[in-house]
Amino acid sequence: MSEPVSIDDLFDRRLDFPDIGAARRLARLVGIDEAKTRLTKVLGVLVNPTGPRDWAGKHHKGAATALDYLERRPPLVILAGDVGTGKTALSETVGDAVARQEKIGVTLYPLSLATRGSGRVGEMTKLLSAAFDATLSAAEKLKRSSGKASGGIIFLVDEADAVTQSRENAQMHHEDRAGVNAFIRGVDRLAEKQLPVAVVLCTNRITAIDPAVMRRAAEIFDFGRPGEKQRRAVIEEPLTELGFSSAHIDEIVRLTAGGKDGVGFTFSDLTQRLLPTLILDAYPDKPVRFERAVEILRTMQPTPRFREGKPS
Ligand SMILES: Nc1ncnc2c1ncn2[C@@H]1O[C@H](COP(=O)(O)OP(=O)(O)OP(=O)(O)O)[C@@H](O)[C@H]1O
Ligand SMILES: [Mg+2]
Repeated sequence: MSEPVSIDDLFDRRLDFPDIGAARRLARLVGIDEAKTRLTKVLGVLVNPTGPRDWAGKHHKGAATALDYLERRPPLVILAGDVGTGKTALSETVGDAVARQEKIGVTLYPLSLATRGSGRVGEMTKLLSAAFDATLSAAEKLKRSSGKASGGIIFLVDEADAVTQSRENAQMHHEDRAGVNAFIRGVDRLAEKQLPVAVVLCTNRITAIDPAVMRRAAEIFDFGRPGEKQRRAVIEEPLTELGFSSAHIDEIVRLTAGGKDGVGFTFSDLTQRLLPTLILDAYPDKPVRFERAVEILRTMQPTPRFREGKPS
């Protein structure tokens, strides 16, 4: 048949946690503490099932049935929501918090975009199955017959729409349908074997996800645009560093709330557009000034909301 696919073809650069760079990126994600904490716990028990057992030993001896329900949750977590709201940033770095919390090594396996296949019939299905195979065999090496696994794996499927869209869609190509089947089979195989693996899926289109994929999600995290408090949390430190007063920062927070439609700036609008734009506008011979920042803001529009059925 065709030549075997190597693990480097299946995944983008694998990353081992704890990792100081990831810890920094994770710490810089502000205003989503609840999602961070909950996701860390959910992933923590998936990659290290002995953690809850140790906890129960201390606090709830004999709570075997309750723990069994926790342990039998499917190994899939979905991060869904609008563009630029931190799904990718969080899923790429949360492994650091998981590793520190569970005190085990965690490796991120990000499914490569190239893995989606070149469109040739059978390509995506074959590559997806191979990616699950590779994850499975790596995880089997980590699992000890008794006690704590020696490490855990986070298998990340970012921009997951192509491999998890609903098979109910009549226009769907049979190859895509087969890809979704391969994904479901892969998750089920990981679940059966109780391996220290968590699958994280990121998507803009939660409503387009196949019901069988949804059903397998232990949790769905919904990401939205930052509210007032969260916008302040993002811009307060950098703007204070640039010499803005707290009244000026209040004004910037207000100006990034968006128009009448209520669609305000995304996290990435603030970090990747607004702040760099203010700096580059002043660079190289002027300081950043509040009055100029207001002028610039009046010309900037928030990224439009992601809409079903329209290209992103
Ligand atoms: N909570 C946050 N706090 C600070 N910055 C954030 C936060 N969320 C996102 N950002 C910034 O926005 C950038 C883009 O975020 P990210 O790529 O994670 O968005 P996304 O939700 O994956 O979007 P898309 O759906 O378009 O892929 C990040 O690199 C980061 O700079
Ligand atoms: Mg993303």
